[in-house]
Amino acid sequence: MLYYCLDENQIDPEKIREAGDTIKRGGLVAFPTETVYGLGGDALNPESSGRIYAAKGRPSDNPLIVHIAEISDLPKIAAGIPEAAYTLADRFWPGPLTMIFRKQSCVPDETTGGLATVAVRMPDHPIALALIRAAGGFIAAPSANLSGRPSPTSGKHVLEDMDGRIDMILDGGSCRIGLESTILDLSEDVPAILRPGYITRRMLQDVIGEVTVDPAVEGKTDAAPKAPGMKYKHYAPKGALTIVSGEREAVVAYIQAQIKAAKGQRTGVIASEETHDRYRADVVQNIGAAEDEEAIARHLYDVLRTFDEKQTELIFSEAFNAGPIGQAIMNRLIRAAGHHIIEVS
Ligand code: TXA
Ligand code: MG
Repeated sequence: MLYYCLDENQIDPEKIREAGDTIKRGGLVAFPTETVYGLGGDALNPESSGRIYAAKGRPSDNPLIVHIAEISDLPKIAAGIPEAAYTLADRFWPGPLTMIFRKQSCVPDETTGGLATVAVRMPDHPIALALIRAAGGFIAAPSANLSGRPSPTSGKHVLEDMDGRIDMILDGGSCRIGLESTILDLSEDVPAILRPGYITRRMLQDVIGEVTVDPAVEGKTDAAPKAPGMKYKHYAPKGALTIVSGEREAVVAYIQAQIKAAKGQRTGVIASEETHDRYRADVVQNIGAAEDEEAIARHLYDVLRTFDEKQTELIFSEAFNAGPIGQAIMNRLIRAAGHHIIEVS
């Protein structure tokens, strides 16, 4: 397996050509995007998609996002594209928004997990865009983690999960956003958010009017989520994670009492800049200032991975739902905690 470090301000064209050729030949290349690292293969080659599922240890009914670099490539893979999609692309592409359309027949069932729809995104990262062009225009890429682990937000994370399982890793440093893209389904009458992300419902509504949220996003229904990947256990550290929500002083007191009572177990806390020095756990991680939700989003997956590295058994997290991307942060954190949340007052 090859591991190349690239500078996004001065991308080595030779390395990009080699990476693009690897994908064209049916190989797999992990690459940085602004959200998380992707595990890329040729989206139009069914065998490449098969290799992606095998490398991730992921069920093959879980569809992949197709990444493009030119808006003119969209109608080659998507059908029945509504005007609203072009309006959104104009505003948010390249960027952390994935849109779902009916698929064209050139997109193999292996890429869409057997669905008649295809998810498409244009990532906002110069290395990703250069690679997509070098690979022929269409890269299928899930997040480059082993199934069930937190998504990778650095080259080091990708190496932890994918060493020896793929052909190449392009390390472009840490991801700017750190949470996966917002997924918007445009294949039905009213656009629906299937996965919350950095682009919020509000931002979408400001551009195209009414947007709904799939009830499964909030865990409000037993119905299967429309993004198949949302049904799988995700992001969870190996230790037991509990989210403690409520007024700050009560949260700190509750968590500190639980740590004191934990006899013989290695304890951990996900805390804010404001509270981290008040905990006496084995592993206390400062995820960022409570008001700085962009920093919290950027650090979340690295924080979750660190608990595994340090073999933490009992973990408590404060809740981080202050601002507009709080819904996206809490959606990941709640699933990492297996819906284990305690309210204190
Ligand atoms: O930010 C991102 O979106 C990253 C980077 C690499 O682009 N990719 C990513 O891919 O998060 P992945 O495979 O980890 O998550 C894709 C999600 C899954 O929940 C999958 O079920 C859903 O998108 N999805 C893909 N195609 C779909 C479709 N046609 N209909 C419904 N959901 C779909
Ligand atoms: Mg993923």
